[in-house]
Amino acid sequence: MPLTGPKDMFARAYEEGYAVGAFNVNNMEIVQGIVAAAAEEKAPLILQVSAGARKYAGQSYIVKLIEAALQESDLPIVLHLDHGGDFQICKDCIDGGFTSVMIDGSHLQYEENIKLTRKVVEYARPRGVWVEAELGRLAGVEDDVSAEHSIYTDPDQAVDFVRRSGCDSLAIAIGTSHGAYKFVGEAKLDFPRLEKIGNMLPGYPLVLHGASSVPQEFVDMANQYGGKVGGAKGVPEELLRRAAGLAVCKINIDTDIRLAMTASIRKFFMERPGDFDPRSYLAPARQAVRDMVRHKIRNVLGCSGKA
Ligand code: G3H
Ligand code: 13P
Ligand code: ZN
Repeated sequence: MPLTGPKDMFARAYEEGYAVGAFNVNNMEIVQGIVAAAAEEKAPLILQVSAGARKYAGQSYIVKLIEAALQESDLPIVLHLDHGGDFQICKDCIDGGFTSVMIDGSHLQYEENIKLTRKVVEYARPRGVWVEAELGRLAGVEDDVSAEHSIYTDPDQAVDFVRRSGCDSLAIAIGTSHGAYKFVGEAKLDFPRLEKIGNMLPGYPLVLHGASSVPQEFVDMANQYGGKVGGAKGVPEELLRRAAGLAVCKINIDTDIRLAMTASIRKFFMERPGDFDPRSYLAPARQAVRDMVRHKIRNVLGCSGKA
């Protein structure tokens, strides 16, 4: 099966009240773990590549890995650029065969964000490539960003932004943040804001970044085997399920993959200090990614059987 675009995936997810998982990939084992889980669950899948991942692995390696995944799995898979920082990286990915790109102008002034997003849309649309944009800035405990500081996505602005930029989907800020340290104190998302944006943009797919749950079992395992991942806290799974039932059609997960892999590798190194064959520790790490992703698909995103 060739790579697919997200259009039909999101239309169905919106209609049926679930979300498609967008998992960050950096190497072969991560791709294999995610794809094996999605194949087992017969789930639609978005594999996303950050600028850092593209630099680490090289665009052509990444694209070939995904081609192999398509061949092996027969799943509908979207290849997406995560957090494209400028027009050029979006263009390079579009030209290189990606079926979806994110242009992240969320750090720019509002009008500049519209202008940049519009430029990417004008390049992408005739080539059949989907464009995700971002409005508002993700909360981050370290940045002390909060709704009171008007960083969360403004619903009226979201409507204007979508209309004027022409973006196909919109990442919104409602209280999540990237990484393993998302909340001090109670974890909460601004659901009234999400509902309002959803109601004002009927039928329109929204995206939730920073959606890792930071499972305690991985944090504990990492710490037990020499790690120092203290006080990490993610988005509780029930909140993600609730968002998936609303207009959120794409849920981004990276940190949980990192934690699952690293906890597994730490454990291996402590238990088998004499083993230096990379396959010995990468195989269980790949399995840990697979188990984690299968759990997300089945119990959090609700997209099992939707491929
Ligand atoms: O949103 C950020 C993703 O987790 C990608 O992170 O830029 O370190 O690859 P990265
Ligand atoms: P996490 O850091 O919560 O996994 O978020 C990933 C993300 O939003 C990638 O764009
Ligand atoms: Zn993100």
